[in-house]
Amino acid sequence: MKIQIINGANLNLLGIREKNIYGNETFEEYLEKLRKIFFNIEIFYFQSNIEGELINKLHEVGFSYNGIVLNAGAYTHTSVALADAIASITTSVVEVHISNVMKREKFRQISYISAYCKGVITGFGLDSYRLAIESFRIS
Ligand code: DQA
Repeated sequence: MKIQIINGANLNLLGIREKNIYGNETFEEYLEKLRKIFFNIEIFYFQSNIEGELINKLHEVGFSYNGIVLNAGAYTHTSVALADAIASITTSVVEVHISNVMKREKFRQISYISAYCKGVITGFGLDSYRLAIESFRIS
């Protein structure tokens, strides 16, 4: 089973940025734990701050992988192009957020991508990613 995790804008700064919201751990540290938990799943990781690179990655893996876990960061709230990319591919995408976006500013409560995703997991810290992978294991 192949799962692609895609992190978007500013998520390269996890462990550094707004620790009160996003925690102290870097994604690379967390990824090691995820790979141990799901030792029988191939977990691929890609991060970019550039919207077009996220779209290219969706196109690249979106017809062959078993699942995509996408935290688009702020592009969640702005990007019609990402929404179209998700709609265009055949692999299911689960939208994740570390923070509970529904408890935050109004602009974060709007997602351009949710309607094209299999589901949304928001507010469980980095554990949101584990829950998303779990959702692919059971379906
Ligand atoms: C985020 C929430 C977004 O609103 C924000 O722009 C992010 C991170 C989250 O994981 O909680 O960069 O996607």
